[in-house]
Amino acid sequence: MANATERRGAESILGFPAIWLRDNCPCPRCRDPANGQKLFQINDLPDELAVASVREDKDTIAVTFRPDAHLSVFSRGWLAAQGIVSRGQGRTERDKQLWRACDLKDAIPETEWASYRSDDAERLRSLCEVSSRGFVIVRNAPTKERTVLEVARTFGYVRETNYGELFDVRVETAPSNLAFTGFAIGPHTDNPYRDPVPTMQLLHCLSNAVQGGESGLLDGFLAAAVLRVENPEAFGVLSRTPVPFTWSDAGTVLRAECPLIETDPAGQIRGVRFNNRSMQALRLSEAQLVAFYDAYRAFAGLIEDPETQLTFRLEPGDCVIFDNTRLLHARTAFSDSGSGNRHLQGCYADLDGLFSTIGVLERRL
Ligand code: OGA
Ligand code: ZN
Ligand code: ZN
Repeated sequence: MANATERRGAESILGFPAIWLRDNCPCPRCRDPANGQKLFQINDLPDELAVASVREDKDTIAVTFRPDAHLSVFSRGWLAAQGIVSRGQGRTERDKQLWRACDLKDAIPETEWASYRSDDAERLRSLCEVSSRGFVIVRNAPTKERTVLEVARTFGYVRETNYGELFDVRVETAPSNLAFTGFAIGPHTDNPYRDPVPTMQLLHCLSNAVQGGESGLLDGFLAAAVLRVENPEAFGVLSRTPVPFTWSDAGTVLRAECPLIETDPAGQIRGVRFNNRSMQALRLSEAQLVAFYDAYRAFAGLIEDPETQLTFRLEPGDCVIFDNTRLLHARTAFSDSGSGNRHLQGCYADLDGLFSTIGVLERRL
């Protein structure tokens, strides 16, 4: 064929070794054409695998392998898209827009329930806010109980837990959790005593006719990134020290031990866990304990910095959807003598469903 070039033998093609090329062969013997799933195990490939010959066309590169003469035809476009930097599935700081309160002053990520529900483009935009800035507030959803589940199902799957499909946040007479009192709750992530932790959370406001009871959100990735600049030693300690968290009641005993800052293998921030209410005693050497507390207090100082936290009021019908691996949430104290003047319903969901819905909407639009 015109313009085709052919050569014999090669260690690699475009920096990809023979074994990588063969492992990614798109032919129907290697991948099921119906679902794209790989049909062989890695050790089914020959031991002395090498490139026998290469034929290059305008759009494709055809590789014949030794010793079994298998032919793999790669599209140039696909090969060119395989960079050496892994994107970490959109979960690390690299894929986020980090923020402080002032960055959002006139641009709080929000949407209207009616348009969010009826318009795919608006839903996609709103869900991309959750991915990039960690949250979106859906305004004017119905003020009906269980609506929070309906909101979660617009992008994913409700994660049922020992608290049920959803949980009520209101003043109780015998509270099992400070959330069910009128006390202030400092910035925290939910359920750090669970592994895997629920990666998303929703809070839907049914009523909020009290003095106080304002909501706070802050970007834990930003706080961790600032800590890394200001106090790299503290960042290292918090990313390496497993911290025990527990929660229990008559029917449940939950425990998890995870660092407050989770990094990926390249050192990028990929998760934060922070909850003074359920953190337990660490058991380390004296020197390690001293280093941990120095680091923990430095991180907490950044989290408590008023410039970090966005404060707003949830009104009846508002539902905030947020990334529980990244954002910390809080609320100020309020007085409500058990009369139910402040009532939120919350539930958990997961980021895989969010990213899947974003992917499907992007494909459709
Ligand atoms: C919670 C919580 C916040 C609020 O229940 O997890 O943080 O505004 N509640 O009551
Ligand atoms: Zn093949
Ligand atoms: Zn909470």
